[in-house]
Amino acid sequence: MSELIDANRANWDDRVAIHVASSFYDVEGWLAGPRPLRDREVEALGDVSGLDLVHLQCHFGLDTLAFAHAGARVTGLDFSGEAIRQATELAARAGLAERARFVQADVLRAAEALSPETYDIVFVSLGALCWLPSVETWADQVAALLRPGGRLYLHDVHPLAWALADDDVRIEHSYFQEAEPYADDGDVTYTDGDGRLEHTRSYEWNHSIGEIVTSVLDRGLRLERLTEHDWTVWPRFPWLVQTAKGRWEQEAGRPRIPLTFTLLAVKLD
Ligand SMILES: C[S@@+](CC[C@H](N)C(=O)[O-])C[C@H]1O[C@@H](n2cnc3c(N)ncnc32)[C@H](O)[C@@H]1O
Repeated sequence: MSELIDANRANWDDRVAIHVASSFYDVEGWLAGPRPLRDREVEALGDVSGLDLVHLQCHFGLDTLAFAHAGARVTGLDFSGEAIRQATELAARAGLAERARFVQADVLRAAEALSPETYDIVFVSLGALCWLPSVETWADQVAALLRPGGRLYLHDVHPLAWALADDDVRIEHSYFQEAEPYADDGDVTYTDGDGRLEHTRSYEWNHSIGEIVTSVLDRGLRLERLTEHDWTVWPRFPWLVQTAKGRWEQEAGRPRIPLTFTLLAVKLD
């Protein structure tokens, strides 16, 4: 398994510089005026000032720093050394270094890497679970990282959207978690720009909605909300149309399918 995770890490290290330079992430724009939390995040989590938040698979930390900007004390965790290096630099450039720290570790060992810290909020967003061979081991980490009464916010790509082929409404991958990953060899990433990946091979695993929900419930969390969305934040399929900045939906006339989902859960006392 570790060779697969190492391949994914090299692939993600390659993506960081491309993403930092992209207009998709618009780092310079962010630094000129850090964006507030998204409406959906405020609606789900309320006022986060003074809370301790850990962002798992934080990439190079823009979403993490948005929470620091909103007053939380934040920890971002990612296995990519390049991502952690960029995140740490961005925190300093944004004047948020006192409230933000970034840690390099495999998310499936996050509790050990961050021990003895625990958190009010575990935040996970878009493009996270597909890189992990076991949603159960991931849920172990979430449960260990949350304080009693702490909340999990997970907004991720819907497993149906991962199961479909990239260019057709055809099931190409298992909807369920399998021991065998599916491999990808693409040399481009999801942002704009001409950058090409040197380490093209990556491995992904799908996890069904039932597997995700059950893994969280089995570890002593109570489900507060599970919402399936008919939109996503990038053109996952060629027939999606952009309806606002960072929002892509099925074109008119096509049956709606779930593209992302949000799960909110609270750790019981
Ligand atoms: C699609 S990105 C998340 C993007 C984030 N939602 C954002 O918009 O910035 C996925 C992240 O997961 C990280 N990742 C993948 N596998 C991981 C693992 N096993 N442990 C820790 N981080 C991992 C990658 O390095 C990458 O930063």
